[in-house]
Amino acid sequence: MRQNIVAGNWKMNKTLQEGIDLAKEVNQKAGNTTLNCKVVLGTPFIHITEAVKAVDKNRVSISAQNCADKESGAYTGEVSAAMVKSTGAEYVILGHSERRAYYGENEAILKEKTDLALKNELKPIFCIGEVLSERESEKHFEVVKKQVEESLFHLSTEEFSNIVLAYEPVWAIGTGKTATTEQAQEMHAFIRNLVAEKYGKETAENVSILYGGSCKPDNAKELFSNPDVDGGLIGGASLKADDFMGIIDAF
Ligand code: PGA
Repeated sequence: MRQNIVAGNWKMNKTLQEGIDLAKEVNQKAGNTTLNCKVVLGTPFIHITEAVKAVDKNRVSISAQNCADKESGAYTGEVSAAMVKSTGAEYVILGHSERRAYYGENEAILKEKTDLALKNELKPIFCIGEVLSERESEKHFEVVKKQVEESLFHLSTEEFSNIVLAYEPVWAIGTGKTATTEQAQEMHAFIRNLVAEKYGKETAENVSILYGGSCKPDNAKELFSNPDVDGGLIGGASLKADDFMGIIDAF
């Protein structure tokens, strides 16, 4: 069954205590409303253990924002998928455009990370999306197709059923410039069709495809009303409980 999901991506924000407070506040507010979507908080690694304790897992799930492309060993500063799993996190964001742009993560690296996440029973929230010049030169479909095919299409149907996709046009991230509802729906339908061609209609119908990029309480409802938009990956607006709840309440 396709699931609606609103996932926060805190990025590199919040001290430990601030993070615990935010997780608690979201958990409490989520308990006071009828949730029509799954709620996920993507916290920095150092917050995960405490965030898992701070929330009711029937209400709020915790996600890492990354994991290593190696299993274990002499990789100073890295955090493995097994380590993430051992904290109680259920998800891991992979392939965020900031990781691709600033840390050189390419399709091959992301394929390794995806395999390790799945092997350790984490659900990847796998990010894809074009930069502005690619959209302006009308290469956006081609770019997204390559990202999906080269990092994910080696998976079996069963493995793929654990993937959540997040379409995040890079030009919309943190810029206040949201994709129009037509742009979002068009790309989400394109992605679902790619999945259908590879894995069949049933798998495609069941995969959740989130939109990310300046999603806010005042535009979430319109974006989520599209038939192929199954929720959002939220950066800036996930840092304040009320803004985040405003997006959750759009469902
Ligand atoms: P934004 O970030 O909501 O601040 O645009 C989204 C993201 O990068 O996941």
